[in-house]
Formats: sequence, structure tokens, C-alpha cells
Amino acid sequence: MQDLSLHILDIVENSIDAGAKKIEIIIKENIRQNLLVLKIKDNGKGMDKNTIAKVLDPFYTTKKTRRVGLGLSMLAQAAKEAEGDFNIKSKKGKGTTVTAKFVHDHIDRKPIGNMAETIIVLIAGKGMKVDFIYEHHKNSKNFVFDTKIIKNELNDVPINNAEVLNILRKNIIKELKRIGTMI
Ligand SMILES: Nc1ncnc2c1ncn2[C@@H]1O[C@H](COP(=O)(O)OP(=O)(O)OP(=O)(O)O)[C@@H](O)[C@H]1O
Ligand SMILES: [Mg+2]
Repeated sequence: MQDLSLHILDIVENSIDAGAKKIEIIIKENIRQNLLVLKIKDNGKGMDKNTIAKVLDPFYTTKKTRRVGLGLSMLAQAAKEAEGDFNIKSKKGKGTTVTAKFVHDHIDRKPIGNMAETIIVLIAGKGMKVDFIYEHHKNSKNFVFDTKIIKNELNDVPINNAEVLNILRKNIIKELKRIGTMI
């Protein structure tokens, strides 16, 4: 996988499979600390201690259709390659938080990728069932996007409406430029 955004889609898929109704995607870029932190937090079914211990084993999966589960292992590997670290916190019945840290300017740190498109793809696919919060911090600037707030403003118009998605995409791009994370 070339971009972190593709890893994000993968990890969010786990959250959706776990029945999450609220999924937070948080990116923190701090140039002074030379650090990039990616956090994905869900309120899905969570995991017990035994399961958490096994999830980084590529041969562990609870999917019925396959024998390998690579999503978490691959993100952990991407963090390791950029001299960062990786952590999973989970509570059965409460939810799961996956955190990956990267040395920001590390030569092997994957680019963030297209976050506007990533969020739009998620909303187009699952926006009616799941609320997404996307927070992006770049140094002292930040941007917070919350589909729950948008749904309230939309009244009866569905959030996965094509025209709505276009407006949201433009807005995310504009905000990411404002905080200085997109050229
Ligand atoms: N957010 C989560 N909530 C609850 N369980 C999770 C969560 N993320 C992962 N798991 C558990 O960890 C297992 C491994 O996840 P991982 O993403 O590495 O592989 P996978 O989802 O099984 O397969 P793949 O990602 O390759 O399609 C999952 O099958 C699931 O049992
Ligand atoms: Mg997965």
C-alpha cells in the first residue's frame, strides 16, 4: 500500500465490521517534533485481552472467508519502517483505538495520500449508518469535520447525495489547504 490513506480505509473497515456507529480519524502532524500520529477510534464491539494479543499475527482473522488478516499488521509494519510505533487499545463492548506514529520526515514514511477522497468514499459507502469525525492538526492549525453536525444541517437531504458529497469534498480540500497540509 502506497499511502497512509489506504491503510486508513482498511482500519476503518475493521471498525465497521465491529459494528461501530461512530468512527474518529485523527491525524496530527507536528513538524517541530518531527512526528505524524494517526489515530482511529471506534465504538464497535471491541476485543478482549486474548484477541488483542493475537491481532498482529497475520494469520489471525475472524473473517469467515479467508485465512489471513493483514490490515493491522500492514499498518504496524508501515509505522516500523518509519521508525515510529504502533499500539492498539480495546475494551470488549466499548470500542477500539488504533494508533500509529511515524517520524514525519523519515524517508520511508508513506505519504498521507488523498484524505478528502478517503473521507468522501467512507461517507458515500457508510455515511447513512455510521458517523465519521475527521480531525487533522498541522502544527498549531486544525480542522474538524463531523458528519453528525452536517446531517443536522442537511435536514432531510441524505449525506450520501452526490451533490452533497461534491460540496463536502470541496470543503475538505479547502480546509486542508488552509491548515497547510495540501498544496
Ligand atoms: N476495530 C476493531 N474492533 C474489533 N475487532 C477488531 C478491530 N480491528 C481488528 N479486529 C479483529 O482483529 C482481526 C484482525 O484484523 P486485521 O485488519 O489485521 O485483519 P482482517 O480484518 O481480519 O483481514 P483484512 O484486514 O486483511 O481484510 C479481525 O479479524 C478482528 O477480529
Ligand atoms: Mg482488516
